[in-house]
Amino acid sequence: MPGTVERMTAMLHRKTSSMRSAAASLRGEAAAPGDKSVSHRALMLSSQAPGVTRISGLLEGEDVLNTAKALRSLGVTIRQGEVWETEGVGIGGLAESAEVLDMGNSGTSTRLLMGLVAPYPFTTFFTGDASLSKRPMKRVIEPLERMGAKITARRGHLPLAVTGAADMLPARYRLPVPSAQVKSAILLAGLNIAGKTTVIEPQATRDHTENMLRFLGFKVEVSTLSHREGDGGGRGERRPHPEGGGDVAISIHGHQRITPANHEIYVPGDPSSAAFPVVAALLCRDSRILIRNVCVNPLRAGLFTTLKEMGAKLECKNERMVGGEKVADITAETSALKGVVVPAERAPSMIDEYPILAVAAAFARGETAMHGLSELRVKESDRLAAIVESLAACGVSARAEGDSLYVKGGDVKGGATIATHFDHRIAMSFLVLGMASNDPVTVDDATAIATSFPNFVQLMNGLGAKIEMPDVGCQAPDRKASSGIHPLVIAVDGPAASGKGTLARRLAEHFGLDYLDTGSLYRAVGMKLVYAGKDPRDRAAATEAAQTIDADDLSNPRLRQEHIGQAASVVSAFPEVREALLEFQRNFARSANGAVLDGRDIGTVVCPEANFKFFVTATLYARARRRHKELSGQGIEVVFESVLDDLRERDERDGKRAIAPMKPAGDALVIDTTVLDAGEVFERACGVVEKSREAEKQHAC
Ligand code: S3P
Repeated sequence: MPGTVERMTAMLHRKTSSMRSAAASLRGEAAAPGDKSVSHRALMLSSQAPGVTRISGLLEGEDVLNTAKALRSLGVTIRQGEVWETEGVGIGGLAESAEVLDMGNSGTSTRLLMGLVAPYPFTTFFTGDASLSKRPMKRVIEPLERMGAKITARRGHLPLAVTGAADMLPARYRLPVPSAQVKSAILLAGLNIAGKTTVIEPQATRDHTENMLRFLGFKVEVSTLSHREGDGGGRGERRPHPEGGGDVAISIHGHQRITPANHEIYVPGDPSSAAFPVVAALLCRDSRILIRNVCVNPLRAGLFTTLKEMGAKLECKNERMVGGEKVADITAETSALKGVVVPAERAPSMIDEYPILAVAAAFARGETAMHGLSELRVKESDRLAAIVESLAACGVSARAEGDSLYVKGGDVKGGATIATHFDHRIAMSFLVLGMASNDPVTVDDATAIATSFPNFVQLMNGLGAKIEMPDVGCQAPDRKASSGIHPLVIAVDGPAASGKGTLARRLAEHFGLDYLDTGSLYRAVGMKLVYAGKDPRDRAAATEAAQTIDADDLSNPRLRQEHIGQAASVVSAFPEVREALLEFQRNFARSANGAVLDGRDIGTVVCPEANFKFFVTATLYARARRRHKELSGQGIEVVFESVLDDLRERDERDGKRAIAPMKPAGDALVIDTTVLDAGEVFERACGVVEKSREAEKQHAC
């Protein structure tokens, strides 16, 4: 079962991937990562426009990668690179997916794709992670069923199956909840249904779908209605106002013929991500930063309006239009904030920003009241509850009453460990809180950050933040280091593309130790078989090859070839092969200089007595992304999906093998590298070794 290994990995993350932030001041400039909403739409909508679309600045977060993967399963050719490229299949051109579409944590991917596939006479299956499986899908199911699709869902939630029909009917549908995802799902279904589909919006929501459809050459009509829907009558084209102004009708005609053309899309920076460094700069002492390239579409900019009302020294400079979206550079500096009332009508234009606004409100003078927040209950977590609970843990008085949230500002204690409920925005918001509170703040699980802002820690630390993994779980190395085992032996384990090799090499260089990549032993066995024309599944031949491996075999450049890596993964499952290679590895570890060994069972089987054990891991997507980049850098053209599938298969083999299955040693320090770069991982591990050696020295004195 492919999901099992991911779940197992996720459980490991859950246990170990906490992160902590401490007081800092921020200075400098950074570019916001690509906008998540625009990135999803860039991939989905360009697939419907005949021609090749080049997409620059696409957010390579896990949610967007899930959209790309699903579209590929539906027959769209997508090339990943510095600039991504999609080949439009045109309206009606999608193919039935042979696989269940796994949407991970992404509500936008799920709801928009449900709309896109609804008018096809085939069945598409959707699934997702535990958090996504709790989110309501009835809001999309209901209008799509009205249009003629048949949807079977588990009590209105994922997993679900959408079976479309070629003769679906266009709808005129008034949104019962202000949701850009629901609006977009209906419009995307309408693209492939004869006739005119209209969505009526009582409250304006982000209009990226409409903007991008137009940019790609489709016609979309928008008009304000003089009365509420039902009273009839439209008035000319008008852009919806972010804070109301009556019903707006958005219509699309199905089966539009557009001339094939190539397009260039520049994805603007995400205001929902820029919000974190911006608010951090307002709250931290002595700070001034500039965030470039932020989308300031009025339907997304409610947070910036609110912060200005609170007295923030925040400016939008150099406003310009990029690919149909308004973009600006934002400066923010340390500010004394005051509490305000945020009206319910503003909620859709800042729906994802309430967690970080609540953090800003905690430091403001007086109370901030935020109204119209019912939708926060059904985001990646029940955000209303999570905000109140987390603020309370940090010593802030906050309460939810009905759809409103009240936060009393003042001195913020911090010093808590926050339960993120696998919600990226809760994690990032409370790491920002910890940068300005009296005591540091820890979040229990930072892995979800990679869904929307994979370089969050690097960007924030680049501006001067102090976000790091806390010193949990390093008692064991301390104990071992003083147990008198000399010279130094460091075990580094972890799955493929986790960064274990880079860490091990750097540690060896730094501490002057010998280094062995034990994976190269299995590769050498695989290579011997492949180049002798033998099948790597031949257990006897593999055992024989393992018995003859020596140091010279390890320097062959062919060892790095992808097919040799696959053969290595097969032979490494044979107990006889592992046994035959054990002595070689143990001898190496006994080197007089001391040694670093990296592999998958060093801490558990090869060197259970190692002084230090690190288990380096990252989400499957993060690892696939790295491996894919590495291969592209070597000029090897491979589809991202095949890298992903290959890693998934290897994880499964490594996790399941009868002997020495890959798992962290009980006394290993697990380092989750999903949101860390190689330098940060090294500093973390090196810090642990140095600290413990220092303690050992003092002990000896
Ligand atoms: C999104 C719309 C919003 C937002 C989500 C992205 C979109 O959700 O919270 O992060 O890209 O359309 P709703 O449509 O549920 O409000």
